[in-house]
Amino acid sequence: MGFLYRKLVRQLLFRLNPETAHDAVIRTARAAQRLPPAASLARLLTRSKDIPVEAAGLRFRNPVGLAAGFDKNCEAARFLAGLGFGFLELGTVTLRPQPGNPKPRLFRLREDRGIINRMGFNNVGAWQAARSLEKLLPLPVPVGISVGKNADCSLEEAPRNYLEALKVMYEFGDYFAVNISSPNTLQLRSLHGRDRLRRLVEPMLDFAAGTKKARPFFVKIAPDLEEADLEAAASLAVEKGFGLIATNTTVSRESVPAYWRSYEGGLSGRPLRELSNSVLARTAALVKGRVPLIGSGGVTDGPSALEKLRLGADLVQVYSGLIYEGPFLVREILEHLHRQGFRGSAGRRG
Ligand SMILES: Cc1cc2nc3c(=O)[nH]c(=O)nc-3n(C[C@H](O)[C@H](O)[C@H](O)COP(=O)(O)O)c2cc1C
Repeated sequence: MGFLYRKLVRQLLFRLNPETAHDAVIRTARAAQRLPPAASLARLLTRSKDIPVEAAGLRFRNPVGLAAGFDKNCEAARFLAGLGFGFLELGTVTLRPQPGNPKPRLFRLREDRGIINRMGFNNVGAWQAARSLEKLLPLPVPVGISVGKNADCSLEEAPRNYLEALKVMYEFGDYFAVNISSPNTLQLRSLHGRDRLRRLVEPMLDFAAGTKKARPFFVKIAPDLEEADLEAAASLAVEKGFGLIATNTTVSRESVPAYWRSYEGGLSGRPLRELSNSVLARTAALVKGRVPLIGSGGVTDGPSALEKLRLGADLVQVYSGLIYEGPFLVREILEHLHRQGFRGSAGRRG
């Protein structure tokens, strides 16, 4: 089935401008999730045997999730959950709606199987996203919600801006991802510093601890970090008990032809794999299994997913791979994991 996507659907989608193609996919998914026969057919075609995993106190039917940024407005989650994913991460949502960066802001690196994006957290804002998601719940898989800061909000105001977005979304997420690693919002990545990160996450963790159902948190880190910032994030994660997502997109262009150096934004997909894996491995060595890890960056097939799980990730996520390989990618990955005898981690860690 993956072959059909690559030969037919991808050819058609790749004739469109990347953002137009993405919007068309989201619109189709929104329509399909309202039509029970279409959604059932998609479920049937993408179904595969479970590989149960437990992480962050949650149970996942398999370790392969959708990465943040695909469904930024939380509007197609029911259809996406039917594609076989073990979990979905929706958003990144900001408190107030914002248009993102000027277009064009999304580019395919077809030869390299990569993507460069400088979307800049274009989204409808937390209130509208919460309203859309509420209508789609309950979903058959855990849902993470990624929160970020508005572009017009200073670093000093950031903790409050994130917290307010979190509060709006809180009752709709099974876990929360704090996105401090998009390269497309000015200075966002300087939130990685030890003191800044503590000031950012403590109010959110305190808020969650004061609610009836304390949800787990993850902080999503950049692959371009200084060693000191990685160590700071890892030690704070262990101290506070939140997980880490390694990694977001890279600003490096070392793994792609020089032509792409003039394209600003975050690089993802196959060219990110090696860098992202090295950060994942370093993170795993620092946290030593004490907090959960999600691997993101360059998962495009079974072997690249298994590689991250063997490097210490409890779960993995895909984005660019989905664009190049299509909606059967999750099933293809899970079949590979089964063939390789990967048994999941249910019961290994709570
Ligand atoms: C077009 C696009 C938009 C993205 N938007 C977000 C976002 O809003 N929040 C976020 O945390 N990551 C975002 N990402 C990063 C992905 O979630 C993922 O971490 C990254 O692309 C690496 O995974 P991949 O190689 O499988 O694509 C985006 C990626 C792409 C390609």
